[in-house]
Amino acid sequence: KTKVIIDCDPGIDDSLAILLALNSPELDVIGITTVSGNVPSDLGAKNALKILQHANRLDIPVYQGASLPLKRDYVSAQDTHGDDGLGDSHLPEVTDVKIHQNAPEFISQALSENPGLMIIAIGPMTNIALSMQANPKNWENCGRFISMGGNFKSFGNCSPVAEYNYWCDPDASAFVYENSPIKIEMIGLDVTRKIVFTPNILEFIRQNNPKEAEFFAKITRFYFDFHWEYEKVIGCVINDPLAVAYSIFPELCHGFDSYTAVETKGLSIGQTLVDEKNFWKKDVNSHILTKVDSLEFMKIFLNRTCNIDMS
Ligand code: BDR
Ligand code: CA
Repeated sequence: KTKVIIDCDPGIDDSLAILLALNSPELDVIGITTVSGNVPSDLGAKNALKILQHANRLDIPVYQGASLPLKRDYVSAQDTHGDDGLGDSHLPEVTDVKIHQNAPEFISQALSENPGLMIIAIGPMTNIALSMQANPKNWENCGRFISMGGNFKSFGNCSPVAEYNYWCDPDASAFVYENSPIKIEMIGLDVTRKIVFTPNILEFIRQNNPKEAEFFAKITRFYFDFHWEYEKVIGCVINDPLAVAYSIFPELCHGFDSYTAVETKGLSIGQTLVDEKNFWKKDVNSHILTKVDSLEFMKIFLNRTCNIDMS
């Protein structure tokens, strides 16, 4: 089993990513860390516990992390994910489990104790940057670092050119791309936009696993409405679970190595600058995923999270 920390901002699609990881025998989730993004990090930590409760995995520790971006004002995404961050589903609160503090410190410590540890970051990169700034050496122990964020050819989702996670804390993302000793595997909007969870997939779950369908319906309804209202998309784009699926099945996505930087100011703040043609003659710091087998992803996702035989 590969040990992994999921750094997240739950978040509807974060929750689905956590569920996928918990139902994947290849992964040993040693902790969930939260950062302010879709919702403030304290609410995100409470949501992580709600998901762990749903999966019967309250043994996994949750660490609350940075409550503000490094330099910028914080802008949540509660318009997209609901006031409670889980599509206003109001799942039962977990009151009897402790939420730990200082996620960046936990990440640094875990890296020093577990050579080869994988980190999957599916929220803004504030915790990651803080850990890397405080303990750069520990990151040499990181086995794989997968980041959901950024965009290469695709347009942005919170400005014409920027994706939310990188835009929310551009200084953190820029720092991480400049300083990471390990190649960043970037699962950006180019691939995640292809992952659309539709009402008929929900109906398919209902027919095969009514109990899980109830949970999915509760948390995705708000996301469906948001996508229809603002993008005229039927269904919702679920970005984050692809990062988890890709960590286990790298053949799901294809891409190329590149030097990548993140813009920290001006109109294009948060934009990923992927130097595909190597104009800047810099060393490779990232692997940019641009193609995805979305059908295969959905089969894996439904099989694992809803226990539906997809063969
Ligand atoms: C990313 O932003 C968040 O709203 C989602 O949870 C995902 O991590 C997509 O841009
Ligand atoms: Ca997220």
